[in-house]
Amino acid sequence: MDSEHMGDDLAKVLLTEEQIQARLSELAEQIWHDYEGKDLLLVGVLKGAVVVMADLMRALPGTAPMDWMAVSSYGSGTKSSGVVRILKDLDADITGKDVLIVEDIIDSGLTLSWIRANLESRKPASVEICTLLRKPDVVKVDIPVKYVGFDIPNEFVVGYGLDYAERYRNLRCVGTLAPHVYA
Ligand code: XMP
Ligand code: MG
Repeated sequence: MDSEHMGDDLAKVLLTEEQIQARLSELAEQIWHDYEGKDLLLVGVLKGAVVVMADLMRALPGTAPMDWMAVSSYGSGTKSSGVVRILKDLDADITGKDVLIVEDIIDSGLTLSWIRANLESRKPASVEICTLLRKPDVVKVDIPVKYVGFDIPNEFVVGYGLDYAERYRNLRCVGTLAPHVYA
């Protein structure tokens, strides 16, 4: 879905489809270079990372396997608590693999630091993180993020996999919603 089909639901476009694709191409080149000779496994976190994963993996100059995890983070409204439950675990054993977690957004970083620790306990060769978007609050948690698409302001955004009440994930750009949508 393009922003012109959004009616007046979108208040502002933060990142256009072109900006996102250009940045993902850069990240894919960098990742491919960094993982040369390694056993790269892309691990996506459902559902938000679906769109990032689809475009990032196709931007890679070569092929790499992927796996998925689904977690539920207990929290109220749009804030996560860091208390996480696994809804769907990885299909495969990651022992000895070079795991790259692919995420849509890091806000507080609580969910991701839990996932990272959980994956690290399975004895992979390495665990790194790639996120399309990062919000400023993440500095409060000590979580190293190797690949960041864009640092964005502390606003609730939708599109490109990110939802509001499960909607707007199919929007090709990233933007903020107009106040009337929340009403
Ligand atoms: P933490 O705070 O643990 O949470 O890093 C990350 C998760 O929170 C959701 N999230 C958002 N979802 N627009 C969204 O659609 C946002 O602006 C936003 N900020 C945080 C998201 O599920 C992410 O994985
Ligand atoms: Mg969500």
